[in-house]
Amino acid sequence: MGGMCLDAWVGLLREEAGREPGLVGVGERLAGRVVEPGSLRPYLHFSRGGYTRNLVYRDARLEVLINCWDSGAVSPVHDHDGQECWFSIQSGTFVLENYALLSGGLGPGPARLGPPVVVGPVGAGHVDFRCPEAPIHRVMVRQGPAISLHVYAGPVERCLVYDVRRQRCTARQLRYHSIFGRPLSRMDALPPVTRG
Ligand SMILES: [Fe+2]
Repeated sequence: MGGMCLDAWVGLLREEAGREPGLVGVGERLAGRVVEPGSLRPYLHFSRGGYTRNLVYRDARLEVLINCWDSGAVSPVHDHDGQECWFSIQSGTFVLENYALLSGGLGPGPARLGPPVVVGPVGAGHVDFRCPEAPIHRVMVRQGPAISLHVYAGPVERCLVYDVRRQRCTARQLRYHSIFGRPLSRMDALPPVTRG
């Protein structure tokens, strides 16, 4: 993927996602590489103190996002709706915390997590893989602004968000900040999108 523009990379992913066994080995191909930076430009929308989710491509078997993170931005502790998820750092530095589920936590309600396993700081070229067997993590920006490329083996429309201290989790509907390069207002951020 080194030097490859984002559209070309999405084209390869679409081919793989359409074949059996699907997106196997994406992590190895992403590792140590970044997308040609200029091709990210339509998807770069930053929000002060937080992060934005910007949809690049979506069909029934594949979702690609560019997330833009301000310095100090932190995601909630969350899962990925049972999907496989690759998180590729394009720029900036992150610290990742992975959590084991000790009890509950498969739906809204009580959820007990183990202590976080910390990865990082890690920077451009690092790839994190979340799978249904180890889905829960938190992502923190150490040095921003930062950009990450997300590949899901199917659209993720909702997730569980975990309150570690209170040992509970709740469902959260996910929103996009922009779709195919077009920023959304709060009012039209809800509809699911299919393209291709
Ligand atoms: Fe995540």
